[in-house]
Amino acid sequence: MSRLVVVSNRVTVPDKSGAAPAGGLAVALQAALEERGGIWMGWSGKSSGAKEPAALDMRTHGNITYALTDLTKTDVEEYYHGFANRVLWPICHYRLDLAEYGRKEMAGYFRVNRFFAHRLAPLLKEDDIIWVHDYHLIPLAAELRQMGFTNKIGFFLHIPWPPADVLFAMPVHEEIMRGLSQYDLVGFQTGYDLDNFGGGLVREGIGERLEDHKFSTYGRTFKGGAYSISIETAAFAEFASKAASNPMVRKARQSIEGRSLILGVDRLDYSKGITQRIDAFEKFLTLNPAQQNKVTYLQITPKSRSEVPEYEQMQRTVAEQAGRVNGAIGTVDWVPIRYINRSINRPVLAGLYRLAKIGLVTPLRDGMNLVAKEYVAAQDPEDPGVLVLSRFAGAARELTGALLVNPYDIEGTAHAITRGLTMSLDERKQRWEKMMDHLLKYDINRWCDDFLADLTSE
Ligand code: F6P
Repeated sequence: MSRLVVVSNRVTVPDKSGAAPAGGLAVALQAALEERGGIWMGWSGKSSGAKEPAALDMRTHGNITYALTDLTKTDVEEYYHGFANRVLWPICHYRLDLAEYGRKEMAGYFRVNRFFAHRLAPLLKEDDIIWVHDYHLIPLAAELRQMGFTNKIGFFLHIPWPPADVLFAMPVHEEIMRGLSQYDLVGFQTGYDLDNFGGGLVREGIGERLEDHKFSTYGRTFKGGAYSISIETAAFAEFASKAASNPMVRKARQSIEGRSLILGVDRLDYSKGITQRIDAFEKFLTLNPAQQNKVTYLQITPKSRSEVPEYEQMQRTVAEQAGRVNGAIGTVDWVPIRYINRSINRPVLAGLYRLAKIGLVTPLRDGMNLVAKEYVAAQDPEDPGVLVLSRFAGAARELTGALLVNPYDIEGTAHAITRGLTMSLDERKQRWEKMMDHLLKYDINRWCDDFLADLTSE
């Protein structure tokens, strides 16, 4: 079996004791790397300031070597905050209005990808299988090919892929498409993203769709596929069941005093639809005055990418909005919205998922959304909660037992909350079982195995 080399912007390194990190993706990749032996390379998350980054920081745990590189301050600004998060992220989330096309940032993105390739090259062996993750590193294969590497290289995109009309608004769309053509397998979250990719190629006359999910463009033939990322379903279900007796979860249960808990968990990001969700919750309360004082909506929103202006602005907007609703509707003994603007630990989170009667997952656009999957896995089979899920999340294509909503339709989402809170136990069980059966079959290991099987076949 060939060695596996994973490359991603962020790397999850085990702690000093070698303990496995939390989180499904890290666990699945660690398992695949451990089995085959391998390297996981990426950014250390640190900046070297104005100085050239030091040599790779190499750490070995068992069969896996982690290779981390610092980036200069300019690299971080141009590649990560600049092009990745101010061009690719908004474009891939259909937000043409938020993209900022600085030439400096575009150049920085391609330059840092070349830098990654040069740092990776000395570590590579001839028959290594290389698996590159996410939008930060699209041009990596092209750089490696230029250096003469003929290894099998796969790419998986964790975020959505937009239709041609949206993608082609990006000045360097051709370089990006050309970059993708240098892989042997390009994986998307859903068939819809894959269709957007294939449709874009054909519509713009830059490629063809061949049989067996193959594409031909820029002189290369490569495969495309849809591989929906998932969670460690069985392990997470057990974890959540134990977490129900976590002292913090008990405290939370006591503090809501018999009210129904509605839960939202998202990184602070405009793609997550948090402001529309708060509007929908407010609408639900005004449409159902009898529900006032009977529900608590807990929104857990860790800060993210605060250096990007849109995120910084959103931080203020959400805090103000939650404060306004509480001020307008709350009473002396009831706060409708509890807003936590930082991350909380995994056991508490899992216990809260299980406690919540409604999991409110309403992104405006999302590649997959693993919160939706974790919420389902965490439920008590005898008394499961209801998932209210945006139809614009990749997860909606699998979790058909959820109440699907259009997050832009505030009143529609408010009605779904009402429906979820009044749903019979039989219907809740039926919907939950359907989703849980699917998630047990299509878990994170299946995702990893399917992708690697397709990459290594032929
Ligand atoms: O899911 C998309 C993604 O960009 C991941 O690649 C990343 O780990 C996560 O969101 C968090 O974003 P960031 O690494 O920018 O904090």
